Amino acid sequence: MADPQTIAVEEMGEDDARAELARLADLLARANAAYHAEDAPILSDADFDAAKRRNTAIETRFPALKHADSATDQIGAAPSDGFAKVRHRVRMLSLGNAFDADDVRDFDGRVRSFLGLAPDAPLTYIAEPKIDGLSLTLRYENGRLIEAATRGDGSEGENVTANARKIDDIPQNITGAPDILEVRGEVYMDQADFAALNQRQGARGGKTFANPRNAAAGSLRQLDPGITAERPLKFFAYAWGEVSAPLAATQMAAIERLAALGFKTNPLTTRVDGTEAMIAHYDKIAEQRATLGYDIDGVVYKVDDLALQERLGYRSTTPRWAIAHKFPAELAWTRLDVIDIQVGRTGALSPVARLIPVTVGGVVVSNATLHNEDYIAGRDSKGGEIRGGKDIREGDWVQVYRAGDVIPKIADVDLSKRPEGTRRYVFPDACPECGSDAIREEGDAVRRCTGGLICPAQAVEKLKHFVSRAAFDIEGLGAKQVEAFYHDDTLPVREPADIFTLASRDAQALAKLRNRDGWGERSADNLFAAIDERRKIALPRVIFALGIRHVGENAANLIARHYGDWDSFERAMTAATPGEGAAWEELLNIDGVGATMAASLVTTFHQDRERASIDRLIAELDIQPVVAPSSTDGSPVAGKTVVFTGSLEKMTRAEAKATAERLGAKVSGSVSAKTDLVIAGPGAGSKAKKAESLGVEMIDEDEWLALIGET
Ligand code: IVH
Repeated sequence: MADPQTIAVEEMGEDDARAELARLADLLARANAAYHAEDAPILSDADFDAAKRRNTAIETRFPALKHADSATDQIGAAPSDGFAKVRHRVRMLSLGNAFDADDVRDFDGRVRSFLGLAPDAPLTYIAEPKIDGLSLTLRYENGRLIEAATRGDGSEGENVTANARKIDDIPQNITGAPDILEVRGEVYMDQADFAALNQRQGARGGKTFANPRNAAAGSLRQLDPGITAERPLKFFAYAWGEVSAPLAATQMAAIERLAALGFKTNPLTTRVDGTEAMIAHYDKIAEQRATLGYDIDGVVYKVDDLALQERLGYRSTTPRWAIAHKFPAELAWTRLDVIDIQVGRTGALSPVARLIPVTVGGVVVSNATLHNEDYIAGRDSKGGEIRGGKDIREGDWVQVYRAGDVIPKIADVDLSKRPEGTRRYVFPDACPECGSDAIREEGDAVRRCTGGLICPAQAVEKLKHFVSRAAFDIEGLGAKQVEAFYHDDTLPVREPADIFTLASRDAQALAKLRNRDGWGERSADNLFAAIDERRKIALPRVIFALGIRHVGENAANLIARHYGDWDSFERAMTAATPGEGAAWEELLNIDGVGATMAASLVTTFHQDRERASIDRLIAELDIQPVVAPSSTDGSPVAGKTVVFTGSLEKMTRAEAKATAERLGAKVSGSVSAKTDLVIAGPGAGSKAKKAESLGVEMIDEDEWLALIGET
């Protein structure tokens, strides 16, 4: 029997089909569990859908082999797994990525330019392996471990204290630590322990794991701590959260302090001076990678001096003072079966390569992104050649690569294996979902469906976005559920407002939901309760949830902070006209909002259909205005709009801006009647004049530093 994973459904014999259905059942069950457990999805949505389609195709050909609990029949949410939520007192961030030595040099350049350091000024970093596990934060009060939590979405994780207590590397009590100490690091599993675990699991008919990372995640996130105790989990400490007293003056000394307190720290952590030394250490770690005994996926560099780390601060989700230098992607060859077109939330037609499944770096890949029509044709956005100009065709033999968690891509095409009679791929000029024209605007690489909300694909994607984690995040109502509701004729959800009217639909329809497979009485009522709970919602989430093109989570935050409450925001969007007038200028003046984003926002509010849909939604909600974050309490500049002009001598413009923002100020690039304060250095010109004529308060750099208490 050939490997059933790679056989086309049409060519399968009954034994192949049976084996493949068993594999898919296991894969889908694991993917479902991992998805609902949320911190360790093992398949992308596209891969999940593809696996499910393959499952259905096989069942259709061999109906007698269909499993009683087939994934095909499951619509409802998996039972929520019952870990309590923990709000992180200090957010758990992720890291920016560098993929080659030049990216590392750029990183060093950005650090230096932010701090105003010359290229040859001494600057020390530490370099350490990037452990491929999952991050965990441990809170100690008066030397005792009182809480352990996963990262979750960075702001809120899951309480896994009972499980963390079962990990030998994690001390229950420590002496000589600050009264409050949050230790952060990575939970992982050694490769040998992973292999042995899989063998035990296999022998018992239990579930096996795709790689050590999944095994570590699955083992930590067990409702029964007894199971965690049986799993050989380990922990490396590499960072900290809240501390009542500083651990040390440098990253290296802080790590040494954690080691002295009894935590395992990575022995390959070293101080390095300058980029060439960083890269040399990276090469050294890369050489040792195969013999370490645990998975690593790169090297992390961090600015050593903690005072400099503090000055550098954070971008929205990553520190400016650290970066992950990733190992090169893993590669594999396989056959491209067909090219599918997916229609996204904003109408973009995205081509996806459906592949004969192949393992790339421990993960089964069955889809790869093809970006856009130029990419398929072998051209980049400027018309230059990629892959030596080779186009991609259905039936081609292609080289797939994965870098980290990103969607797999196609690196190369083997023309010698191209089947005869293939043709260049012709990109559709009509939306495959609704038939509307698909138009490519001047300068845009992407073709878009012009159907707007009448396009079912756009509507479904908008709904999925609406319920996503950074948006409404309704428990029990994920992407799969909203999609099912969208297609449901008895209880349809066609736009966000419909979610909030679900429970008040006619009694018969509701009774049907309660009796539906995979739902049942309890979960239907739980769902309605979860929906009701989300009526009261913070303004930034609402703005982000609208799914307006170019408006991401970070922009939604900035906009919400600027307007403060929904009514002011809505009034401003209604009043604004792209390209002119005070309301437009005000929008553009928000730091981080450019003309493209502003135009997209304003146009959305002026489209009748979109606007009506927004209005229906807002009528269902109780939107909470933005309050200045507590860390800016007592800040003399919180909520003030400030403008920096002229040259600064004590810090760079970038640092000045970041500091002001951290203290709750809005930093604007131009002076208007709304400006509260202008900080003018030597050489200040027209902005200072304008401030003077408007009577805006103006101070110099030293006065600014005195005001914010930094002298
Ligand atoms: S530092 C503020 N150091 O990588 C910086 N992270 O891609 C916080 N990771 O969520 C992270 N090894 O789970 C740091 N030596 C290391 C790491 C490491 C693995 C993970 C961590 C983080 C993710 C970011």
